[in-house]
Amino acid sequence: MKLFDLSGKVAIVTGGNGGIGLGMAEGLAEAGANIVIAARNQEKSAQAVRLLKKHGTKVLALSCDVAEPESVKAMVESVIAHFGAIHILVNNAGINIRKPAEDLSFEEWRKVLSTNLDSAFICSQACYPHMKSAGGGKILNNGSMLSIFGSSWGAPYSASKGGMVQLTKSLAAAWAKDNIQVNCFLPGFIETPLTETARAQIPDVDEKVVNNTMAKRWGQPEDMKGIAIFLASSASDFITATAIPVDGGFSALLY
Ligand SMILES: NC(=O)c1ccc[n+]([C@@H]2O[C@H](COP(=O)([O-])OP(=O)(O)OC[C@H]3O[C@@H](n4cnc5c(N)ncnc54)[C@H](OP(=O)(O)O)[C@@H]3O)[C@@H](O)[C@H]2O)c1
Repeated sequence: MKLFDLSGKVAIVTGGNGGIGLGMAEGLAEAGANIVIAARNQEKSAQAVRLLKKHGTKVLALSCDVAEPESVKAMVESVIAHFGAIHILVNNAGINIRKPAEDLSFEEWRKVLSTNLDSAFICSQACYPHMKSAGGGKILNNGSMLSIFGSSWGAPYSASKGGMVQLTKSLAAAWAKDNIQVNCFLPGFIETPLTETARAQIPDVDEKVVNNTMAKRWGQPEDMKGIAIFLASSASDFITATAIPVDGGFSALLY
């Protein structure tokens, strides 16, 4: 058995058309998995499909709003109609609305929570019966440094990402009987469209990130390939319910 081989596996990556999701989808495709990109912007998805197809596996882009149960149900049905199975789910899609807590509307709070956290529950529950009937599965939940730390501009984001860690533990406990491993990964600061806006909105963010990251640099989407392959493959079969930083040392550095 090749520990990191994903040949023949079917992996859904939510928000897989850019940023971290695309980096992880590339890693999974390089390891042999067929990829489903589930996201809203179909132009971006079409570009991602072209990139991913270079790895020689099958790639399918499906339009999906992960915060909407009916949209997720339709996406999962299409995956089954196309590939006949689901083995890997990466709950990656996410947004941020950066504002001081006192200025946030309830609608903004709900939008971040539903996109980042409700989505992981909805997608995991929709995939569960198919993983069970496949004899097992791997669910990878995208957390954040804000799963650990707080921030004055990120109340709903940090609540959603802290919730991701706890959701991970509970789904892992619930579905261990079905040979489904559920893990969370906590990216540090990765250069993507999401953090491009952070650079514009938060003073000194670049300096703070570089100074507080042991690796002394921002992460790139390619830095997320390894954790994707590891947590999606049989190399991690005895690993479940964890939250693993992929942060160049950010979460362990005091000064
Ligand atoms: N970049 C970082 O430093 C960092 C650090 C920690 C955690 N993260 C997490 O990593 C994940 C990806 O973020 P990113 O940095 O790669 O930013 P990004 O490039 O903006 O990616 C966000 C992705 O989520 C998708 N998405 C957003 N809302 C969606 C919805 N309702 N339904 C379906 N897809 C949706 C977007 O695709 P469409 O717009 O096409 O739908 C996009 O592909 C997020 O969960 C984020 O919180 C990022």
